Amino acid sequence: MPRDIELLRNTLNEKFQRERAQLLPALHLVQHQFGYLPDWAMEAVGRHLRIPASEVYGAATSYSELRTEKPGAHTLKVCTGLGCLLNGGRELLSAVESALGTPPGRTTADGRITFEETPCGFLCGMAPAIKIDDTWRGRVTPDSVETIIVEAGRP
Ligand code: FES
Repeated sequence: MPRDIELLRNTLNEKFQRERAQLLPALHLVQHQFGYLPDWAMEAVGRHLRIPASEVYGAATSYSELRTEKPGAHTLKVCTGLGCLLNGGRELLSAVESALGTPPGRTTADGRITFEETPCGFLCGMAPAIKIDDTWRGRVTPDSVETIIVEAGRP
């Protein structure tokens, strides 16, 4: 990690002026590089921009596209667009939460699956829909959730 810190500091110095307005772009860069916002990286961003760590963390947790937890090996996203919610999406969301034992926005204790909600994936004609890593599946029923989770958790 010391090498990561050094590389990040160099990148911040090269790409971002020490201005408060650079906070979100800098956080997006960190997330792009590491897949999430590690604490040490948020501290480095705060130090570079001269913004208190609490403010950096506040910004990081205010935007749903930013994540402060390391993602699991796989992601399982349930569509919460209106078309899906009206066609079984709520039941699907509950079934996944119950099967994984974690609410949306969190990763299972074994680090295998990150469970998230996602906006409409334009698969509304096949609602409710679910996205496993980069693959969408439609007409998913609560009964099929256990099978889907086993498939999603494969190494
Ligand atoms: S609302 Fe779920 S795919 Fe469109």
